[in-house]
Amino acid sequence: MASEYLGYPHTFAEEPMSTEKMVELCKKHTLYTWSATDAVAPLPIARAEGVYLFTPEGQRILDFNSQLMSVLIGHAHPKVIAAMKHQLDELIFVYPQTATQVRARVGKLLAEVTPGDINTFFFTLGGAEANENAVKAARLYTGRQKILASYRSYHGGTNLTMGLTGDPRRWPNEPASPGIVHFMDPRPYDYSFGQSEEEITRNHLAYLEETILMEGPSTIAALIKETVTGTNGLLAPTQGWLRGVRALCDKYGILLILDEVMAGMGRTGKMYAFEHYDVIPDLVTLAKGLTSSYFPLGAVGLRDKIADHFRKNVFWGGLTYNSHPVGLATAEAVVRVMMDEGMIENAAKMGRVMRDEMDRLQKKHPSMAEGRNVGLFGMIDVRKNSKNEPLAPYNGAHPAMNALAKFFKDNGLFTFVRWASFTCNPPLCITEEQLREGFAIIDRGLEITDAAFEG
Ligand SMILES: Cc1ncc(COP(=O)(O)O)c(C=O)c1O
Repeated sequence: MASEYLGYPHTFAEEPMSTEKMVELCKKHTLYTWSATDAVAPLPIARAEGVYLFTPEGQRILDFNSQLMSVLIGHAHPKVIAAMKHQLDELIFVYPQTATQVRARVGKLLAEVTPGDINTFFFTLGGAEANENAVKAARLYTGRQKILASYRSYHGGTNLTMGLTGDPRRWPNEPASPGIVHFMDPRPYDYSFGQSEEEITRNHLAYLEETILMEGPSTIAALIKETVTGTNGLLAPTQGWLRGVRALCDKYGILLILDEVMAGMGRTGKMYAFEHYDVIPDLVTLAKGLTSSYFPLGAVGLRDKIADHFRKNVFWGGLTYNSHPVGLATAEAVVRVMMDEGMIENAAKMGRVMRDEMDRLQKKHPSMAEGRNVGLFGMIDVRKNSKNEPLAPYNGAHPAMNALAKFFKDNGLFTFVRWASFTCNPPLCITEEQLREGFAIIDRGLEITDAAFEG
């Protein structure tokens, strides 16, 4: 289309580009994340709406992972787009040392929807920066340096947050910043020893306390934990474990940072996942769902005692795009839409449908080891045999898992297949019919892994 475009003599896309050319140029001039670019087969996408993605050829794909577990309100919500356009017209960017209408409104709104005395927010561009700044705040506030983090975790791709991360993405990024100590999670190991949930919780808390004592309580600034572990297994804390961690932190003057980048903003059927577990963290981090990924934005929420400290003492951190007006306008619209349209309640309700579907599939498919979900935060594990050995090992692959991933792709289901698991994290606006449509595809797909089941 070589017509006039915004005063330019041509559009930026001078002629319509074929899908093949688009893929070729993306691979030639851009790098892909967490992979060797040549090995990537990017999914060509032209547009997205609600719970569906559409390829340039018009194939409709059910988004069963909300992209990166992040498009929580669904794609292309008209009210959020309108709010973003309004902000573009009003004010796009000013530097962080300004006061703006939208910054004033969003700080207040988040304080209202966040439990406890978390009333002050520091804005970033995403989750890793939120965790970086939460750790910074904890170190400055306590005057201590060490951070405890769990092995089964992901906290971001920057140097510090890669160090906090426990999973294999950390290995090639080491050595990380010093002072990070990892601990094991209460799940899933201890079940193999035949312990009750109560015993697991008690033993694990004793182990954690020993770790704290061995490291030196006076050296530890904070403990960081995903409230419900996301990519590393969709692991909800055992009953009472988080309350026990809170008590240990209080006993030793350690701050508790809960990473709700993936689990927060309604995903679990409550605004914050920690609302299920009767704890209030000292610092909470958000990103992804905060704007439903319509714009890059993250946040650190601080309890009053910590926020008050930084009213009198310098917060040694900053970002050019801190409190970006367009990001904040997006977050405001997303939170309002979520609440006005009952999406968090829907996540809780559809979570029960997901449970029902997972139970149904587990009865039917010998290769399905387990389905776990908290609200619409779900994952299915696939097993090799009746001893519950995973079909693919930790950090490994299996041809049947690759075939399952291909089946999902060919049959219009977008989800993440990793090792011996795959995710079930649709947008929170999903209807029961759409959810069951997704599980119908999974039902057929599991026949592939059933064929690899060794009995
Ligand atoms: C729990 C958790 N924390 C932090 C991050 C990092 O967020 P970002 O990619 O926005 O930096 C992620 C991203 O997947 C996450 O899942």
